[in-house]
Amino acid sequence: MNEYPATVNVSPPHGHSPMYVMHKFFGRKQERLINHYIRTFTQDEGEIVLDPFCGSGVTLGETLRLKRKAIGVDINPISVFVTRNTLTFISGKKILEEFKAIENDLKNEISNLYKTTCSKCGKKVTAICFSWQDSNLYDKRYFCSQDGKRVEKTDFKDIEQYNGIRSYFENEFNNLNESSTYWFPKNPLYYSNGRAFLKKERYNHIHELFTKRNIASLALLLHRINQISPQDLRSSFLFAFSSMVHLASKMTPVRPTRPFSSSWIQPSYWYCPHNMESNVWELFERAIIGKQGLLKAKRDLNRKIQNIKKVNTFSELETSPNPTYFLINTDITRLTQIPENSVDYVITDPPYGHSIQYGELLYLWGSWLNVVNDYNETFQDEIIINHRQDKSISEYESLLKLALNKIYLTLKPDKFCTITFHSPNLTIRNLLYRSAIQTGFIFDELVFHAPARASAKSLLQPAGSQQGDFFFHFKKPLKKLKQVFQPITGEELEKWIVEIVKDIIVKEENPLPYNQIQNKLDPFLYEKLYKSKLLLNFNPKEVKKTLKKYIGIEFSLFENPDGKSKNDILWGLV
Ligand SMILES: C[S@@+](CC[C@H](N)C(=O)[O-])C[C@H]1O[C@@H](n2cnc3c(N)ncnc32)[C@H](O)[C@@H]1O
Ligand SMILES: [Zn+2]
Repeated sequence: MNEYPATVNVSPPHGHSPMYVMHKFFGRKQERLINHYIRTFTQDEGEIVLDPFCGSGVTLGETLRLKRKAIGVDINPISVFVTRNTLTFISGKKILEEFKAIENDLKNEISNLYKTTCSKCGKKVTAICFSWQDSNLYDKRYFCSQDGKRVEKTDFKDIEQYNGIRSYFENEFNNLNESSTYWFPKNPLYYSNGRAFLKKERYNHIHELFTKRNIASLALLLHRINQISPQDLRSSFLFAFSSMVHLASKMTPVRPTRPFSSSWIQPSYWYCPHNMESNVWELFERAIIGKQGLLKAKRDLNRKIQNIKKVNTFSELETSPNPTYFLINTDITRLTQIPENSVDYVITDPPYGHSIQYGELLYLWGSWLNVVNDYNETFQDEIIINHRQDKSISEYESLLKLALNKIYLTLKPDKFCTITFHSPNLTIRNLLYRSAIQTGFIFDELVFHAPARASAKSLLQPAGSQQGDFFFHFKKPLKKLKQVFQPITGEELEKWIVEIVKDIIVKEENPLPYNQIQNKLDPFLYEKLYKSKLLLNFNPKEVKKTLKKYIGIEFSLFENPDGKSKNDILWGLV
């Protein structure tokens, strides 16, 4: 049987560090892995590393940390905003001074909106949050110096207070322009073609995701932050603002285990029947001086990378000392700023299929920061599968191919391109592999990495909720190769899959849950395809379906002694 593809020795995965956790992002990569591969595939300081789908900028951070030069490209202005602010150093002193000034101006005004009384002793207190059950103010959660942290039913006074705030602000809201104290975004959760966002449920506009009290508080805060100068300080306060804005929304469920905080747990504009209404001042304070706040993030950045320089042209990048980066807000297929054969290494994580709609999800932040004017104009070239935008899987494939072609051109010959991919779906992974081969890349290796904070439980995740990441390593040949590949037939593929899975089970000496089989299968499959000069030209059915045909013939199913659900079934040999 084949040997396992070379495994890499990377220290065990762990959570993200303070400079990255400060702002939520979707599909953020583990910095250790990125760091490992940059060290593996570049030799010297000063080499140029490109991430054409840079998202929140983890690859840029790790590139700079290793004293290489970084180029980041992303179509989404919010990705670029997050990346830039993650890499901008601001001194702790300046952050604290500005925070104190804002506190002076606004803390009381905002906190007053959350005033209530302790149900036990009758003292005035400030709610840390309220909760809402559908459209009813349900309970209040606060700290009383006498009675400690409490969760109590709201009373008529709380409801009256809220209604007062609502009518006051509804009047104010009627005559708003962009410089008003109470400006807030009203962007529709619809594409310009009139269809609803793929990931929207009940709400129709950004402002409906918030209670009136939280809209008012956020508006006051934003208005004040917009007056900060200099610009980089203002920008990092906007960054802190946007890092908490979703936490002030109604998309934050009440959780019995953590009654005083919540988070935006679903990658959608979902309707949460019992939701939190968190005190905006408390959230903002945490976003600046809390465990995952701006101050910690900047200290972490300063510990890791000093004197980062940002440039605006490729020639400046070439001539500047390390660490320097060049960040470009464009569709990668239209990139013109980077000459051909100029990049030493590409490492990237393209969007995979339809599950995370980056454009529309990041739009929550984009609307508050007022950086997206026309949705379709900004996102028409986003590489994604989304039937409401008429982006089918074949449209996705052709866009991905255009992107890979651009990447291929910018890369120097004989250099590597690592593409990490999180898709649980063989069709999508294959589509990426196939596009890369058709672009002219040489296949080097595919490695699977288990997820950060891998627990015994997560290793037994049911199929479909795939955890961890695949890293495809490709290489640009010295001279354009004539790689001729024949299509593999369905029968052949089926035979291969069964053979490889049998090998995997033999090698493990124990039956395995399906998702582990799937993670081990892919590296063998692509190696075998590549060596045999075959391409999978059709969209294969899921591996599990194939394997199921062979239950009783090649495979037996076993109950997992520690398993809790039917998905914990183990696959062994007959
Ligand atoms: C999976 S995310 C990258 C996340 C990143 N690995 C991180 O650690 O934060 C994919 C990114 O590709 C971007 N993208 C989608 N279509 C693009 C295009 N045509 N050109 C450039 N970027 C694009 C999205 O905006 C998104 O930020
Ligand atoms: Zn009390």
